[in-house]
Amino acid sequence: MKVTIVTNRNGTESTVEFDYRKRDDKERPMVLDVLLQAQLDSIPDLAFRYGCRARNCGVCTVDINGKPRIACRARAREGDRISAVATLPVASDLVVRRDGIARQLHGKLGGHPRHNDLNVEAPDDYHALTACIECYACLDKCPMHARNFNGSVPGEVNDKTTLPDPAEGYRWGNPFSLLKLQRYRLDPLNTESGHQAAIKLAESLGLDACVECPGCKCGVGIDLKRKVISPLLETSGLKSPATD
Ligand code: SF4
Ligand code: SF4
Ligand code: FES
Repeated sequence: MKVTIVTNRNGTESTVEFDYRKRDDKERPMVLDVLLQAQLDSIPDLAFRYGCRARNCGVCTVDINGKPRIACRARAREGDRISAVATLPVASDLVVRRDGIARQLHGKLGGHPRHNDLNVEAPDDYHALTACIECYACLDKCPMHARNFNGSVPGEVNDKTTLPDPAEGYRWGNPFSLLKLQRYRLDPLNTESGHQAAIKLAESLGLDACVECPGCKCGVGIDLKRKVISPLLETSGLKSPATD
């Protein structure tokens, strides 16, 4: 099975054609299997990330034919083009810098007392949002995240040369940041003032971008539109509650 792997060294992209050896005719390898064999057989210094190999840790996300996919759970197909996710700066080959996203909310909601009443049940939607594995696949084509790119076209986040330095932080948010804020709002251990701070933070990260957006797609199937975006928009008054 022939695939193309896009490498990136010091900002210079190259492509490597790799022919994956199947163990038998029935094997349907995952993209991560292909990368592991490519590293073993022909590109020993190929850089990519993986952890759990079971769709739990989220670090193996790569673009396959231009769409973000979780490499340990995406079947490889003849002719696939495997590259680093386009929405984050490349560190090397298929490894992107994840630091700016994870840090975006740090310290911004602090200072709110949490009462440690373990008898308070969290609502079902809170538990649904804990399924997030931080794979960042949802950043793909997000118009809010696109605001971090100078001169980018909403819906076409693909020009890596305009990515800001994550060390300086991202000015604008993304579906993952909003999920964290909505989860914070649903956490019964947080106070009303904390809930309000979460809405204000969502607004300052660019929640208005969601009003006209058709919605974001989660790599593991969380209903971001219904469980994250709509409640935030409705609470902030940017959109009326759905009547259906
Ligand atoms: S709904 Fe909002 S967070 Fe989701 S992709 Fe659109 S702009 Fe981004
Ligand atoms: S919301 Fe979904 S796509 Fe986004 S980081 Fe979490 S698991 Fe990945
Ligand atoms: S290696 Fe953990 S999700 Fe793929």
